[in-house]
Amino acid sequence: MSAKDGGVEEERQQEQEQEEQVVNPWEVSAKQGGKIDYDKLIDQFGCQRLDKSIVDRVHRLTSRPPHIFLRRGVFFAHRDLNEILDAYERGEKFYLYTGRGASSEALHVGHLVPFMFTKYLQDAFKVPLVIQLTDDEKCMWKNLSVEESKRLARENAKDIIACGFDISKTFIFSDFNYVGGTFYENMVRINKCVTYNKAVGIFGFTGEDHIGKISFPAVQAAPSFPSSFPHLFSGKHNLRCLIPCAIDQDPYFRMTRDVAPRIGFHKPALIESSFFPALQGETGKMSASDPNSAIYVTDSSKDIKNKINKYAFSGGQDSIENQRKYGANLEEYGAGRMLTGEVKMRLIELLTELVERHRRARAAVTDEMVDAFMAVRPLPNMFA
Ligand code: TYM
Ligand code: TRP
Repeated sequence: MSAKDGGVEEERQQEQEQEEQVVNPWEVSAKQGGKIDYDKLIDQFGCQRLDKSIVDRVHRLTSRPPHIFLRRGVFFAHRDLNEILDAYERGEKFYLYTGRGASSEALHVGHLVPFMFTKYLQDAFKVPLVIQLTDDEKCMWKNLSVEESKRLARENAKDIIACGFDISKTFIFSDFNYVGGTFYENMVRINKCVTYNKAVGIFGFTGEDHIGKISFPAVQAAPSFPSSFPHLFSGKHNLRCLIPCAIDQDPYFRMTRDVAPRIGFHKPALIESSFFPALQGETGKMSASDPNSAIYVTDSSKDIKNKINKYAFSGGQDSIENQRKYGANLEEYGAGRMLTGEVKMRLIELLTELVERHRRARAAVTDEMVDAFMAVRPLPNMFA
């Protein structure tokens, strides 16, 4: 075989592998029968690994123990986090930006990962935070009515507020209510820099997609730039932005980072987590589109118990017959010191406690509090 054939063969192989593992804002699935390969994602996407030296640096700079999600490697990748920390060390602050596209009545425990972590970042670095509720996105992708999308966004805002954000440093906004003014000016600046071909390359749009979808990425990009929030960052054109999210959102911000210097802003930095796995196993993420894959923060302790006993991947087979025939897949707890039932019982206990704690916090969130977090207002002491 000539070298050229080898190249083609290699390319074909790569293509096949890419076909098998899919991670984008709309779909997360591992290769047939495998787990999501996060090392490969880092290479494919071109992000940086979040190694121990950065975790130690965060520890030093904030003088508090790094969040368990950092110590355990749940947040495993980043882009330009060192630049943010350099700036912070020089005494320059930054702002945090994260978001949620409400497609279900409530969050699931996977969604809590970026929000719990963002709260830690806000407390540790003492910086302001903007949270985007992309009601427009879900209206277009999930075929919800405008009214229903807005209602879901507001319901989800209560779950987000329940994570404990500081109202004196946090602005929550929904696209339907907030987009306009300088935010829209930035959207137009962004859109002018992205060709249709480029958008197809990043997001895989086809000729059958309606043009609303093609116009959306600029909406998610715009909050990365401080002038989109004149009531907060007026005159602070140079302020840097750090975005915590799971790695499925990376495509939006690859586009954003590409555009940023061309329209006179810093590239936003990112800190990215792996996925809270679906109950069925690490081949997918816990997803709101598949209720049996997820534990919702509104599930009762009975729901949690039933879902875990029925669906959670434990390596055991789904029936006694199959268990006899194939045996259990022991990779998950190969040491063999615990039995399936014991592991599941511990998991049920843990998740029930977490969901209970969240339920109590959410019950204390009133409509007035939602209005207060979503009011377009200055935050006078947001850097203190
Ligand atoms: P959405 O609503 O799909 O997800 C909200 C946040 O949760 C993360 N996430 C997960 N994290 C861990 N394990 C999981 N199983 C899991 N499933 C989802 C998502 O990565 C996200 O951080 N388009 C966005 C909304 C958005 C946004 C942003 C998100 C707008 N601007 C900026 C992050 C940063 C969306 O639909 O997210
Ligand atoms: N007081 C809780 C904390 O910070 C806040 C919280 C709300 C929470 N919902 C949660 C924590 C869900 C963990 C899980 O610990």
